[in-house]
Amino acid sequence: MLISQMTLAEKIQQLRQVFKISKEVREALPPGDNSPIPDIDSLVATGAVGSVILVTDTTAEADRIQHVAVESSRLHVPLLIGADVLHGFDTIFPVPIGLAASWDLSLVQHAQAVAASEARAGGVNWTFAPMVDIARDPRWGRIVEGAGEDPYLGASMARVQVRGFQGGQAVDGDQRIDVNHVLASLKHFAGYGASEGGRDYDSVNLSEEALRNTILPPFLAGVRAGVGTVMSGYMVLNGVPASGNRWLLQDVLRAEWGFRGLVVSDNGAVGNMVAQGFARDDADADLRGFMAGVDMAMGPADRSPYGTLAGSIRPGWVSNDDVNAAVSRVLQAKLRLGLFEHPYIDETQAKRDLAARPEHRALALRAAEESAVLLKNAGGILPLRPAAYRRVAVIGPFGDSRQNTRGPWLFPRNNGEAVTVFEGLRNTFGSRARVRFLPGVQALRIPASPFEFLSKAKSAGLWDAARARQEMRDALALARESDLVVLVLGEDRYMIGEFASRSSLDLPGGQQKLLEQVASLHKPTVLVLLNGRPLNIAWANEHLPAILEAWYPGCEGGNAIANLLLGVAVPAGKLPFTWPRDVGQVPMYYDHTLPQDPINVSARYWDANSSALFPFGHGLSYSTFDMTNLRLSASRINEGGSVDVSADVENTGNLAADEVVQLYIHQRYGSAARPVRELKGFQRIALIPHEKTTVHFRLDAQALRYWSAAAHGWVNDASTFDIWIGPDSNASLHAELTVET
Ligand code: NOJ
Repeated sequence: MLISQMTLAEKIQQLRQVFKISKEVREALPPGDNSPIPDIDSLVATGAVGSVILVTDTTAEADRIQHVAVESSRLHVPLLIGADVLHGFDTIFPVPIGLAASWDLSLVQHAQAVAASEARAGGVNWTFAPMVDIARDPRWGRIVEGAGEDPYLGASMARVQVRGFQGGQAVDGDQRIDVNHVLASLKHFAGYGASEGGRDYDSVNLSEEALRNTILPPFLAGVRAGVGTVMSGYMVLNGVPASGNRWLLQDVLRAEWGFRGLVVSDNGAVGNMVAQGFARDDADADLRGFMAGVDMAMGPADRSPYGTLAGSIRPGWVSNDDVNAAVSRVLQAKLRLGLFEHPYIDETQAKRDLAARPEHRALALRAAEESAVLLKNAGGILPLRPAAYRRVAVIGPFGDSRQNTRGPWLFPRNNGEAVTVFEGLRNTFGSRARVRFLPGVQALRIPASPFEFLSKAKSAGLWDAARARQEMRDALALARESDLVVLVLGEDRYMIGEFASRSSLDLPGGQQKLLEQVASLHKPTVLVLLNGRPLNIAWANEHLPAILEAWYPGCEGGNAIANLLLGVAVPAGKLPFTWPRDVGQVPMYYDHTLPQDPINVSARYWDANSSALFPFGHGLSYSTFDMTNLRLSASRINEGGSVDVSADVENTGNLAADEVVQLYIHQRYGSAARPVRELKGFQRIALIPHEKTTVHFRLDAQALRYWSAAAHGWVNDASTFDIWIGPDSNASLHAELTVET
């Protein structure tokens, strides 16, 4: 046994993960930020770390550092090499919120399997994904990384992403992960998405009822799918930092759920417990993080994660058994990956998987097409009839931006190409129309620091008023002389993601003005959005005929959007969150409980409508579907029983298209007041014109149970349930189910 050959120091070293930032990047950092580059090579060569996280390095560098670990360290233990591979490595897929909007589980699993194969070929064996935090406040920038607001959709996406990354259908946490897959990590355990005010890293206060029914289900689904690792969050949950929270990590994750894999902290989360006013000093933080259940601490090398842990190994504190258990989980992860036999990059695999494989690009195209959501289409402007337009204007700061087609959470090593909306439309229209592009306004970016903001803004000419006026004039002139305008608006990719909360959901920069000025020309105009959170588009919705939500669609984004606009592909994506009219409404989600005056639910602000702009699950098609004949295999069942729910779905339009059939329930009374609606099933189906099919769902005790604050536990109540099937969360096809004791 390897562990028995290790000294205590070597064991603790296995519990440390440090950032590996390339020399070039460090040197390019602004003055004040260029602290000496920690010598990662010597840390690795002496076996002083069990894992590195790659930030800016290349494939060759990943392989080199693995060689150092295996060849130079005393026991030749390979490294876990981690990276944030969220929506692709070489082939870039839509951002996770977009993948979730496809509601296509096999597509999402397949996309993450491709991402895994490319990452592994590139020397990465561990991804810090999927992020399964439920997000109900779009001011929080990380909403883009998850599956949105709903626990059922979130759990479904968590499950298939874990399978995609790690491979296979196994539910056993010891299952081997082959050379085409990577370890996955569910993050951020738990509650990070519920930060107060949507402010990243801020306090989270959640009742156990909210945790159990809403926040934890995606984590449990990922654990049941055999996930290898879980990342503990940064923030303080109900007064106790998540990375020092025994209840979360020991009582729930290990004791209740039986998780046997590795727990890693978020970056510096253990040490940060001092700043959070929880731990006395670094030694206290290390001790409390470890005792709470964090096996491996992640952090910058100069902050020496778990650097003081050795001092806590003494009678009454940390025992040798505790250390052995944590170390064996790290070694087990390395074994699962087969790193002891194959630590290095396989050149053949790298050549095969990193050479822009056409089938990977084809999947990226399909993913971008499937994830787009048609929010509005009035007067049948879409699909565009190419013969009707000879001069097409693509206008907006994101119309020809490769970076904003690819989206956030990508690094220089993710160097695959991307097709912009402008390029996609030019390709698709071909010689049939002259397609031209102008930005109209510059994208506004969130600054990394006020200092950086000012210097960047000046050098990028953001404050050059004369230039801004000219850009707007040029774009309007182009629009005026065109017979179709495709406006491409949204948010710069640096305005979303980590540390990118916003207090407003307005279109940033001068985009609202651009939108209004273009609309005032009364040209046929279509709005395409590149973004990761619901933005304030109430004005656009009132004044423009068509809006397509394309997210950050990835490397084939422009081609996919052109296909969708021209009807080569038919939109079928559905919103994975409720789209508010105004930031003042948030948090806003469909599965709220009922007020005492349900009649007036849409008039609860005196100064604004309190309904959503678009409901959860919303998304239009170019075809039409009829859903009829909702039936239950039994209208009465016993607690613990189950029922088959089915409905007929027919494509009544003229185009082959997909539809996402959604099942919702509501429990009318019980030991707690239950949400007005809850998603309990969905299926994305494809139908050709006039084809009709029957869709079946199973509702069992597991689906009907919930965690009741009154009973302080899971309950199945005898009650009457409303059941709906439909195309969104306003589904109207209804039946009633009685559950008896
Ligand atoms: C911090 C983020 O919160 C986490 O999601 C990410 O995986 C780590 N940094 C590593 O980049």
